[in-house]
Amino acid sequence: YQRSVLPSKFYHHGSPGAHSRIAVVGTGNVGASIAYALVLKDVANEILLVDANRSLAKGQRLDLDDASLFSATHVKDVTLQEAGKADVIVITAGARQKENESRADLIDRNYQVLESIISAMQPIQKDAIMLLVANPVDVLTYFAQELSGLPRNQVIGSGTYLDSSRLRGFLSEVLEVNNESIHSPVLGEHGDSQFISWNTANIAGQPILSFPRVANLDKELVREKIAGKAMDIIKLKGSTYFGIATCTASLCETIIKNRRDIRPLSVYVDRLGAVMSMPAKLGWYGVEEIYELNGDPGEEQKLVDIAQEFKKTCKKYEH
Ligand code: 2OP
Repeated sequence: YQRSVLPSKFYHHGSPGAHSRIAVVGTGNVGASIAYALVLKDVANEILLVDANRSLAKGQRLDLDDASLFSATHVKDVTLQEAGKADVIVITAGARQKENESRADLIDRNYQVLESIISAMQPIQKDAIMLLVANPVDVLTYFAQELSGLPRNQVIGSGTYLDSSRLRGFLSEVLEVNNESIHSPVLGEHGDSQFISWNTANIAGQPILSFPRVANLDKELVREKIAGKAMDIIKLKGSTYFGIATCTASLCETIIKNRRDIRPLSVYVDRLGAVMSMPAKLGWYGVEEIYELNGDPGEEQKLVDIAQEFKKTCKKYEH
């Protein structure tokens, strides 16, 4: 079952909506679910699968071929060198946290994996957008910015997009409002020190804390519930992948279609000298704008504290 895919010479590379290729590096549950979501959403012309385990990548490709019957997306399994030529390079490869591990416990192993992947991908296509998903995603995004040689605004992480989506789902139940009408950012880091920006959360432009059903909630309990959801799932099924896959496929669509959505992403914040999960405008050219908090002193202090911890962590890996 072979679809003809016009050779890329028919497209002007480097402009939104041209012949688009998304590479997914790491084709375990997370990477394969991302690829599956991309196929169903028909986001790109080609999905390029890479895994250290070549048979796994080939098997996922053959299986995804069977999922592409109603889509124009062509799936290939390729080398890291070929992946480096894609428009969007999604990196999921690395160890995942177990029941007794935090995301931060993964840094040593996943730094090694990332370093070897990026060097094997070189030379990376200069307009590529690199999208980190592996954990700890904020720290790995910083390392990828250092290692890839791409401009910082082209190297981003999925950040707290998944946490913010989890919070919207929870508040949607509390308020009986569709989650797409709820703006409730979780910020800081995709990890234990994430915080809910109650100060900027709103529905229809109304501060969310002006709704009694929300004002009466135990805010710390809500924060813990959202921050702890991944572990709840890991304890039951060993790992999470559908939530992060849906978020990542949506981010890829935002890039490929140059949608310029504002999402809570892992981005480098100059004034803090750290990669933080912050509201950022994302499109074909990467992050175009970062939207700082509107001066709530409590939330600002949280960002400063997280940035300090971040820099302490990264110091170990500075060459
Ligand atoms: C999650 O939050 C484990 O980071 C992954 O689902």
